[in-house]
Parts: sequence; structure tokens; C-alpha cells
Amino acid sequence: MGGWHLIARSPPPVHIRPARPRDLAACSRVCHRALRDLSRRQGLPPPRFRPRDLLPFLRHALATDPKGFYVAVSRGKVVCYAITILREKTHFLAQFFALPGTQSRGIGRQVLTRAFEAPRPPRGATRCLVASLDLRAQSLYLKFGMSPRTIMYYLSGKPRAVPQGDELELRQVGPTGRVSPRARDLAARFDRVLREARRDVDHRFWFSSSKGTRCFEARLRGQTVGYILVRGNGVIGPGGVRDPRLSEPLMSAAIAKARDLGLKKVLVWVPGLNEGALRAAFAAGLKVEFLTVWMSSRDLGVLASYIPSGGVLF
Ligand SMILES: CC(C)(COP(=O)(O)OP(=O)(O)OC[C@H]1O[C@@H](n2cnc3c(N)ncnc32)[C@H](O)[C@@H]1OP(=O)(O)O)[C@@H](O)C(=O)NCCC(=O)NCCS
Repeated sequence: MGGWHLIARSPPPVHIRPARPRDLAACSRVCHRALRDLSRRQGLPPPRFRPRDLLPFLRHALATDPKGFYVAVSRGKVVCYAITILREKTHFLAQFFALPGTQSRGIGRQVLTRAFEAPRPPRGATRCLVASLDLRAQSLYLKFGMSPRTIMYYLSGKPRAVPQGDELELRQVGPTGRVSPRARDLAARFDRVLREARRDVDHRFWFSSSKGTRCFEARLRGQTVGYILVRGNGVIGPGGVRDPRLSEPLMSAAIAKARDLGLKKVLVWVPGLNEGALRAAFAAGLKVEFLTVWMSSRDLGVLASYIPSGGVLF
């Protein structure tokens, strides 16, 4: 065997440590490069965001759960990072990326181990994430105890008008651009069941990270049956309903609301199990842009009735 072969396969020296605020710009570039490379390998168009667009989320993760954010540093440079976020007993892997040139050398596994184990989650915590279809990522998640539970569709487009049934009504709760105590409590009532976590800090983040975000209460015959966020950047979610039969009217009403508010494009992450929301998204003309997989160490929440916030907080 040639010496070159041996050198190429041996892992470079890396130091794994908790992330610091000064690492965040480097992490955003690692994410961007890893996703650009992944898209190319999967024959998809390159990601449209800029590395700096990720900074608000990275700051939020570091501020609200610093114990789960680890970086691997090689020769002074961040080459890989993983972020887990514990909300009640859900231990969510928010991001996990390595620079293309350093992948498949055993660094990712070490960083993932630290990000899941160092925070010492409570007994019975559920590991979960929105996973890419990268083969290394998939095999690590399976080995870390998570199984695929449903495919996830990311859909977007300029929504067309769809006739609305009159049964479900959306009523704004609290002001535009700021999460009110009522909106927070309303979301918590449903999040506790549908996502198995109350997460007030994340609701504050969704409002602060996109101007013009609103929370709506879904009402049916005088009763509160769900909630939905329509964010200023066109993202619909998080939100959901108790009864999966109301998933279609909820998504349909949310898309109509986004149109009424003048949003040109809407974007939504829908679990494959949420058939109603998918029907409504297709009726409005949205298109699937890419696929991911929801993986968890046990069945969590009620995905037939839930509309996630996205891939990084679910
Ligand atoms: C996912 C990622 C962070 C993993 O980091 P990494 O440093 O490449 O991973 P490692 O080398 O530590 O581990 C790869 C694992 O996959 C295994 N593997 C590689 N190819 C495989 C295949 N075809 N089938 C099964 N297992 C495979 C390796 O054996 C190793 O597992 P092991 O530690 O049990 O031996 C990195 O590959 C990456 O950035 N990928 C692109 C972006 C992405 O998809 N991120 C995940 C977002 S959810």
C-alpha cells in the first residue's frame, strides 16, 4: 500500500470544544459549503441563502442552549460543528456539518457524540432531527438510535387563490412583530402535544428574526382548535391543530392569509404524514423543492396535525 494512501485516510489532528460566539461566522461558512456540495452530489440546485443569513439562528442556539453546540478545530480552523437543542425532553439535532474536504474521516462522529452526550439530557429524552439524505449522516443517525419516521417535504411557490370553506377562521393574536403572552400560551398549548415541548424562547426568535411575523388562532364554531405563525419572510409555521381532519383547512387558511398580507412567495416544511397540509399546499400550487427525513428515537408528537417551523428548530 502506498504511503500517500495512508496519509490521505488518517484523520488530521482535531480539537473538539464548545462553540464560542467568535466561531459562528466560520460555522455559517461550513454549513454553506457542505450544503452546496451536498446539492451538487444530489443533482439539486445550490442553496439560495448566504452564509450570514444563518447567523441569527446560530446566535439563538448558542444563547439558549450553549451546552449542545460543539465545534471541531483543525489547524486553527472550524472544520465541523454540531448543535443539539434541548427543549423539555426533546433533544433535537439542529445542525451537523463538516467541510467537504474533511468529511468521512471520523471527525463528524466525534463531534456528534459530544453534542448529544455533553449536555447530559434528562433520562428518557428523545433524540430527533430533520435529516438530510447524505449517506454518512443517515448511517450516523441510525447508529445514534434515531429511526426514520416520515419523509419531510419542503415546498414553496407563489400561492394561487383557493376558495376557502367557511368552517375555519384565523384570528390574529397579539401585535404584528412581537410575541404576546397570549400568543405564547396559545402556541404552548398545542406545541406540548404536537411537538412535545413548550419553547417560548423559540417563539420569541421566530418573531424577532423575521419582520412582520404574526400569530393566528384557528377557530371553529367558537372554539380554539389550533394556531399558526405566518412569518414576514413567507414561511408558514410552526402551527397545528388537535384534530388531523383540520390540517387541510388550517394550511389552506394560512396560505390565503399570506396572500392577503401581500406575501409573494410562501415556504413550508410539511411532514409526509400531514396529508391534509400537503393537499392544501398542492391546491395552492406550491412545488416540492427538496426532501428530508424526520428521524427520532421514538415516535414523537403528532405529525399528522403539525406544521414545523423548519429544519433547524422543527
Ligand atoms: C454528515 C457529516 C457532518 C458527517 O461528518 P463526517 O466527518 O463526514 O462523518 P464521519 O466520518 O465521522 O462518519 C461517517 C460514518 O458514516 C459511515 N458511512 C460512510 N459511508 C457509508 C455508507 N455508504 N453506508 C453506511 N455507512 C457509511 C462511516 O463508516 C462512519 O460511521 P462509523 O463512524 O460508524 O464508522 C458530513 O459528512 C457532512 O457534512 N455531510 C454533508 C452535509 C449533511 O448532509 N449534513 C447533515 C445534515 S442533517
